[in-house]
Amino acid sequence: KQISIIGVPADFGQSRRGVDMGPSAIRYAGVEDRLHELVKEIRDEGDIPLETELPRHQSGTNLKNLPAVTDGNRKLAEKVSDSVKEGRFPLVLGGDHSIAIGTLAGLSEHYSNLGVIWYDAHTDLNTAETSPSGNIHGMPLAVAMGLGHEDLTSIGNGPKVKPENIVVIGARSVDPGERELVKEKGIKVYTMHEIDRDGMTAVMEDALRYLESRGVDGIHLSLDLDGLDPLYTPGVGTPVQGGISYRESHLAMEMLHSSGKITSAEFVEVNPILDERNKTADVAVGLMGSLFGETLI
Ligand code: ARG
Ligand code: MN
Ligand code: MN
Ligand code: MN
Repeated sequence: KQISIIGVPADFGQSRRGVDMGPSAIRYAGVEDRLHELVKEIRDEGDIPLETELPRHQSGTNLKNLPAVTDGNRKLAEKVSDSVKEGRFPLVLGGDHSIAIGTLAGLSEHYSNLGVIWYDAHTDLNTAETSPSGNIHGMPLAVAMGLGHEDLTSIGNGPKVKPENIVVIGARSVDPGERELVKEKGIKVYTMHEIDRDGMTAVMEDALRYLESRGVDGIHLSLDLDGLDPLYTPGVGTPVQGGISYRESHLAMEMLHSSGKITSAEFVEVNPILDERNKTADVAVGLMGSLFGETLI
């Protein structure tokens, strides 16, 4: 594999400052050193240059910072698309989860039947109508399916991901409108209940089998660090108790590695201001190690 690291210092998809320093925190935690023995080449492409002076509000919408989110995701989509075009594996570092809009838009230029694994405490399936917060980081998965504000859905062309190609793992905080959408669209969601009951091994086997049966031509891993329990990843803006453990998460990444099916990944919501001694970025880098084939012996 030839990896392109793409940093996205974005914090405008939510309301807690500091998550724009996520890419720095992850680099400081040693991402390049951790991965360079595992892959053929790793190239750090630096950070996407984001506009910080765009208006915060746009009339006629309750979405926060819509102009900045739109602009940043357009740039990211192009960068991600370029890296796939060069035959590289995009490894996107966030930034809040609104950046998945751009990542998925860029990927969809190259994959016509993309599978997505959404590792998260949340389903991020809100739209302007259902969002309790107006925060766009709660919306990227809906946008990727073509639902939501036109400024966002029009980034790249057409819907990026089919609802039947999405698998959510770790959900435990789902808003009423999101729950309805899950049912209406038939999105596969493994909540904490399934993980507790069946174990991570069975959940990941089932998830991979499911995506296989969909005939996907690539699988993107979108990993929100709040998918893990805040005991392990306290440096996130919207922590939810009762999450996936550190060991289960490594196991999940190891299984994704041995599947050989993952074609891109992003690690988001690392906020060093809310963290304890960069613990969350350290965990993120460890999980990347497992995702790219690190073993204990
Ligand atoms: N569901 C809540 C909202 O829409 C929280 C979303 C949290 N999303 C995240 N990527 N951390 O506001
Ligand atoms: Mn080394
Ligand atoms: Mn989340
Ligand atoms: Mn999320």
